[in-house]
Amino acid sequence: MKKIVFSGVQPSGNLHLGNYIGAIRQWVKLQERENLELIFCIVDLHAITLPQDPKVLRQKNLELAALYLACGLDPSRSKIFIQSENPDHPYLAWIFDCITPFGWLKRMTQFKEKSEKQKEKASVGLFNYPALMAADILLYDTNLVPVGEDQVQHIELTRDIASRFNRLYGEVFVIPEALIEKKVARIMSLQDPLKKMSKSDPNPKSRIELLDDPDTIVLKIKRAVTDSGKEIVYDREKKPAISNLLSIYSELSGKSIDELERQYEGVGYAKFKEDLAEVIVEALRPIRERYFEFIKEKMFLEKVLDEGIEYAREKSSKKLARVKDLLGLSR
Ligand code: AQP
Repeated sequence: MKKIVFSGVQPSGNLHLGNYIGAIRQWVKLQERENLELIFCIVDLHAITLPQDPKVLRQKNLELAALYLACGLDPSRSKIFIQSENPDHPYLAWIFDCITPFGWLKRMTQFKEKSEKQKEKASVGLFNYPALMAADILLYDTNLVPVGEDQVQHIELTRDIASRFNRLYGEVFVIPEALIEKKVARIMSLQDPLKKMSKSDPNPKSRIELLDDPDTIVLKIKRAVTDSGKEIVYDREKKPAISNLLSIYSELSGKSIDELERQYEGVGYAKFKEDLAEVIVEALRPIRERYFEFIKEKMFLEKVLDEGIEYAREKSSKKLARVKDLLGLSR
């Protein structure tokens, strides 16, 4: 029996190194394992939990599909679809809303962080986000969810919702597990190393975007904050900024942190940053090049997304029919 893998990214802005190193690159690696069935979603219903410009969102959906492919997702191995094209997701999310205690959602730290500025004006959708995420995952009998560390709490909640449903109505849902590559679980902001790198950070200098051109990358790395002292050593507590830069360097170059510490012993920040920028430029170059090829191939992108949604709906409709039946939502 193949294990099922499901994950997604929101088309809520420009993808950055955190999304790539923490999530998408892991997905690409999973394609090498034959015993897995892989499903990757563009979660646009999640994106509208914060205000989006409709024209931009439509464009971002296609851009994200092209970026998935440019990063190495292979449509003959991985199914790719747009969440809003499958109404089973919000349908099941509503059912989950009705069996999930309010207190469970109130504990979610991402809601607390994202609603901080909006306070009472934050949408109910932002609050319910984890119930929709649970529906995304549970509709497909998912076993493994490859995500960055920031999503662990949501996966725990998904497990709790699945167990609660199974207890109340019968064994319907597979209990999924988060798949996290510990050492790269959280790439931090280049401007504030205590905050995660994020698409929605208003300061673009806080992140390297996957489609940034080489000059922009060099500039952003030059401007990245550093810690006091001159040594280039990894210490998340005392040197969070340099540790973050070392992690990025190590991940994209394949060199270990120890090796990098030795290489830069007695060398200043300027040279380290210059080399790091070059490593990033070279790592992102093929992704940028492939992206600009794929985005021109609109018909091909449509075909990939059509095949993906057909596959997804075929699977999810069966699961939802069973759920509705168990709840008495039928004649
Ligand atoms: N900084 C990060 N380090 C490691 N992994 C990260 N991920 C996001 N940021 C980092 C992982 O990327 C996947 C997709 O994330 P998402 O788009 O669904 O939303 P998010 O986690 O809220 O990411 P952003 O960039 O911060 O988006 P906005 O600003 O729109 O909310 C997830 O697997 C996530 O763990």
